[in-house]
Amino acid sequence: MTQPLRVAFTLNGRPVEIDVDPGRTLLDVLREDLDLTGTKQGCDREGECGACTVLLDGEAVRSCLVPIGRVAGRQVLTIEGLGSPEKLHPLQQAFIERGAVQCGFCAPGMILSAAALLARRPNPTREEIAEALEGNLCRCTGYTRIVDAVEAAAAALRGEPLPPADGRDAVGGSQVRVDALDKVTGAARYAEDIKMAGLLHAAIVRSTLPHARLLAIDPAPALGLPGVLRVITAADIPGLNSLEGYSRHEPLLTPVGGSLHMVGDAVALVLAESPAGARAGAAAVELAYQPLPVVRDPVAAMEPGAPNVHEGGNVLSEYDIQFGDAEASLARGDVVLEARYATGFLEHAALERETVLAYRDAEGRITVVGGHQEPHWAHGYMARLLGLPSEGVRVITPPLGGAFGGKQDPWPLMAGALAAYHAPGGRPVRLAFTRRESFDASPKRHPYRLHYRVAAAHDGSLQGLFLRVVADTGAYDADGYYISQYALVAGGGPYRWPAVDAHAWAVYTNNPKAGQMRGFGTPQSNLALECTLDELATRLGMDPLALRLHNAIDDDTVLFLGYRPAETVGFRQCLEAIEPWYREALARAAGRNSREAGPWRFGAGLAGMWYRFGKPGPISSEAHAELALDGGVICYCSAPDYGQGTTTVMAQLAAEALGLPRDCVSVVNGDTARTPDSGIQGASRSTYWVGGAVTRAAAALREQILGTAAEMLNQDPERLELRPGAVVAPGEDRLPLAEVAVEMERIGLARRVRGVFAPGLDDDFLASRPEYLPFFVTGAHVAEVEVNVETGQV
Ligand code: FES
Ligand code: FES
Repeated sequence: MTQPLRVAFTLNGRPVEIDVDPGRTLLDVLREDLDLTGTKQGCDREGECGACTVLLDGEAVRSCLVPIGRVAGRQVLTIEGLGSPEKLHPLQQAFIERGAVQCGFCAPGMILSAAALLARRPNPTREEIAEALEGNLCRCTGYTRIVDAVEAAAAALRGEPLPPADGRDAVGGSQVRVDALDKVTGAARYAEDIKMAGLLHAAIVRSTLPHARLLAIDPAPALGLPGVLRVITAADIPGLNSLEGYSRHEPLLTPVGGSLHMVGDAVALVLAESPAGARAGAAAVELAYQPLPVVRDPVAAMEPGAPNVHEGGNVLSEYDIQFGDAEASLARGDVVLEARYATGFLEHAALERETVLAYRDAEGRITVVGGHQEPHWAHGYMARLLGLPSEGVRVITPPLGGAFGGKQDPWPLMAGALAAYHAPGGRPVRLAFTRRESFDASPKRHPYRLHYRVAAAHDGSLQGLFLRVVADTGAYDADGYYISQYALVAGGGPYRWPAVDAHAWAVYTNNPKAGQMRGFGTPQSNLALECTLDELATRLGMDPLALRLHNAIDDDTVLFLGYRPAETVGFRQCLEAIEPWYREALARAAGRNSREAGPWRFGAGLAGMWYRFGKPGPISSEAHAELALDGGVICYCSAPDYGQGTTTVMAQLAAEALGLPRDCVSVVNGDTARTPDSGIQGASRSTYWVGGAVTRAAAALREQILGTAAEMLNQDPERLELRPGAVVAPGEDRLPLAEVAVEMERIGLARRVRGVFAPGLDDDFLASRPEYLPFFVTGAHVAEVEVNVETGQV
């Protein structure tokens, strides 16, 4: 134990004096000793993400790199000291007003870096702002609104007032997010920020080999270390050691005698008194392996004789689309083009690493506080893992630092539940992946190999499409089963194909597991198709936009999937809408290329897009709306907000249906003990499906409120108005909502009502395409690109 060091400094304007291990960093002391959790950690303290930025004597520094001794006698400012909810700093105000906060995990560090910039440069250019924030990563916003916010705050600090935000109608106005205030002041508590007495820490023992048989696990060296309390293996799982239903063949922990299929496969959980102790314990657990042959290439994995990743062969799924006579059409084509593409694994890299807090609550229920895109579904996995009834577990979703599809994986929540189940003395446990682990063990975007052959007539009419796709799902399914279907649905795009021959395979390898990621299965095919169309346009000597317009689907087109779109697709309108920008961008690029010498060349391009949203088959969502006894209105749903704004959207929709301002509605979101199952939160479905259920619940509640009030006031309900806190009768007679709630309670009328939304697809529609996806959205993009033709820099 190192001799503690006494460090005195000024923190957020107040003197602080603490005795600390001098080896610790300012970040850890702020978060762990001083409970200032607005300062975040996103990169294993490697100085890469900027989430831990604070001001040290006015300079922006990464607190994860600052030894605590270095702050002695100096001024430290954290996000909690910059402004308060009652008196926000202009930067905090501007981040809220300009929509610069989504998941919010980057916001404290971003704001403090901006504060340092504005202190030395009150009127920065946008380029200077971008440069000053270069070390602060944001995975959600795309930075434009952040730069807007800093510009606006600079103006405010110079004495120019912030222009007011847009309208504030419940729906249709530009809304500030309901959670933005907490996120810009550091008050939002993500899973890693929540303090609990007696907290233990878990670390995971992982495979270092991509394919091996696990012969033995020896926990003894770990248990001999100070602070290590428990090593949990597959043998300690009381229920089902399986992610089946989401991921075939995938266990939570690989048992002795079983096979490890990728680097990062989990073997054991180690519980200890500190994060460092848990990690040391995990490193000390001894594993005996028998290495097995490895297959990395998905095409090679399909060859006869390739090493089997799992029993039954390496093909997880296949999908086929045959439409018209593709062979004949391709043979007849005036121009036939062949193209091959390969895409790579992509990591979600949410700024918050996978983190859960798990404990046994006062009722003995195993509760996991952790981000998930489908809490009720994760709840089921936890119950089955622990062999408990559904009431024996609970999932609570806290603020979440990004998801992008990656939080569909129930693994971290299941591991947290198992840790809490075995925690000595019923103590709570936190499990936080390192960034390294997150890279190794979380699902990635599937890499594709695509082979296109397309035929077109001289006038640009597409004649036929041949497509083969091999998708690498890595070591496990993780919903990769559907990828062969999604790859092909995206592969033809929003174009008229008179004939298609398409086939796709999802294939196991010993690579990292691939799973859901934004636009699941779509961008890889979209990229390849649009590049192929550009090449085709060149071969035809045709304008790329004209080629797309010539072949764009309309609402009545029979798609290459064999049916008409269910709803308006609007693709032609998207292409027409971007045309002026596209033409201007082309002219700009041509002008610069003719004017400017040197290695930089300029270009403009466009791409079409379509994306299926929702899931196949008849699905529905449920939400509730309640009039509380104090007169407040509460909306209950399970559409967790990982930065995309669902909590705000649900408040807007409920308020709109009630006829109240948005701030009259509070939302309880994603708590399996309190909220109904609103179904899968992925595939861009939350606003449409869950929002539909919220709207129906709120409309039903409004009817009940007005009906009850009408009885109480002896009035026609049609003549009553619902206003904040009261029902108002003609002549401005006000009946407080709290009194209406009490009356509803007295007469036995439900104060909490249910709304269910299922899209209006009739049985014939669904029967005609049970495996296909019902809805599509389309889009079109223009890009202007500068490329250094000597270095390749873009
Ligand atoms: S830069 Fe400090 S935690 Fe990432
Ligand atoms: S809002 Fe920046 S990382 Fe999410």
